[in-house]
Amino acid sequence: MALSDPVHTDVTPRPAADDDWSRMLRLDATSFGHVVDPAAMAAWRSMIPAGGAVVVEDDGDIVGQALYLDMELTVPGGGRLPVAGISWVAVAPTHRRRGLLRSMLTELHDRIAAAGYPLTALTASEGGIYGRFGFGPATIEQSWSVDRRRAQFRPDAPDPGGVRIVTPAERVDDLVERYDRWRAVTPGGLIRPRALWDDLMADRDGERGGGSPSFAFLHPDGYVLYRAHGEGARYVRVVEKVAVTAEADVALWRTLCGMDLMERIEIETHPADPLPYLLTDARAVRTTAAGDALWLRLNDIPAALQARAYAADLAVVLRVTDGFRGGGGTFALRVTDGHAHCAATDAVADVELDVDVLGSLYLGAHRASSFAVGNRLRCNDSGLVSRLDAAFATDVTAELGYPF
Ligand SMILES: CC(C)(COP(=O)(O)OP(=O)(O)OC[C@H]1O[C@@H](n2cnc3c(N)ncnc32)[C@H](O)[C@@H]1OP(=O)(O)O)[C@@H](O)C(=O)NCCC(=O)NCCS
Repeated sequence: MALSDPVHTDVTPRPAADDDWSRMLRLDATSFGHVVDPAAMAAWRSMIPAGGAVVVEDDGDIVGQALYLDMELTVPGGGRLPVAGISWVAVAPTHRRRGLLRSMLTELHDRIAAAGYPLTALTASEGGIYGRFGFGPATIEQSWSVDRRRAQFRPDAPDPGGVRIVTPAERVDDLVERYDRWRAVTPGGLIRPRALWDDLMADRDGERGGGSPSFAFLHPDGYVLYRAHGEGARYVRVVEKVAVTAEADVALWRTLCGMDLMERIEIETHPADPLPYLLTDARAVRTTAAGDALWLRLNDIPAALQARAYAADLAVVLRVTDGFRGGGGTFALRVTDGHAHCAATDAVADVELDVDVLGSLYLGAHRASSFAVGNRLRCNDSGLVSRLDAAFATDVTAELGYPF
């Protein structure tokens, strides 16, 4: 078979072998325009279970690759589920749109099902790819540009204090401790192995996006990692803000906004971030982009629905379609006092939806009623749609633990 023959390319994936990785690094760099440091690659590789990476080879070249990471996800109410985190997905520009992605995701999901993961997760390079594979955007991320000079705190805004300036690598254990408490209560929180912490703390030049080394503010219940950017007009880009309590959030924002020589603060945050409510002029906070971060696919619908807590009682029969895996089915979901029982049923469904919509509802970031407007959740009883909204709502806003 000739390389790049569009008709005859065999798209059958095979497991990645150790000596594939240098070529996989090159395909990753070609696809994303960024060379991953071998040490960073080693950190991510340590999270791949045996048989968790596949490649497609054509005439000795790796032309497609995809893998999954063994992760743990926090769901509403603080339960934790094993999750297969799809990553490193790339198809060579010479081999696009011949079904390589579909074949690799099919193969990986056979493996993920055999390993018993109730959920698959990913972060998507483009919004139009993964819905057809049963993934729905499950967290909402907003990009903010805060005009720091205009950001005046209201006279009655709290001023809890307690923030120290620290060197991140010297205080990694404190960062880990706060991150672990945060992820235990935050839907979308992810376990972060030590290898990824070490990688973050390595703070390599190539990962700085043209900014300064990483600086940190530490609070007893949170932290901020950030870099300074820009010539002349300097600005801050927040790498990570973690706040276990509202007090920590306020204290960290006050500290960020206290950096006199910085013109603005750029951050990716969640819709319930408190900053606009603390300021005399909420327009100092400008949303420059809004989108998705974590995407979820429910592989085992009863296990996933039973693992989370709910905010209101509910009795519903869901008919879920899974076009990718030919799975889905009809499930009776009954919630009492926050706890769910969910099982397959022969009863007539009240609600019909695709599995990607269930992924979007799962962490409470999106509402059933929004999907009903789009005819993506079909139900003749508007009262039941409202009860779905109420039951799936969460008191802690979902956030992606970290990009992967
Ligand atoms: C995105 C990418 C992996 C797609 O690979 P591919 O082998 O061309 O995809 P396939 O031929 O298997 O397509 C599978 C399906 O997805 C659709 N699709 C593929 N890429 C798409 C895109 N960028 N936007 C919308 N739909 C897309 C195809 O039309 C096809 O649909 P269908 O099966 O319902 O008819 C590839 O273009 C790529 O490597 N891009 C750069 C790196 C990247 O973005 N990786 C993903 C990281 S999350």
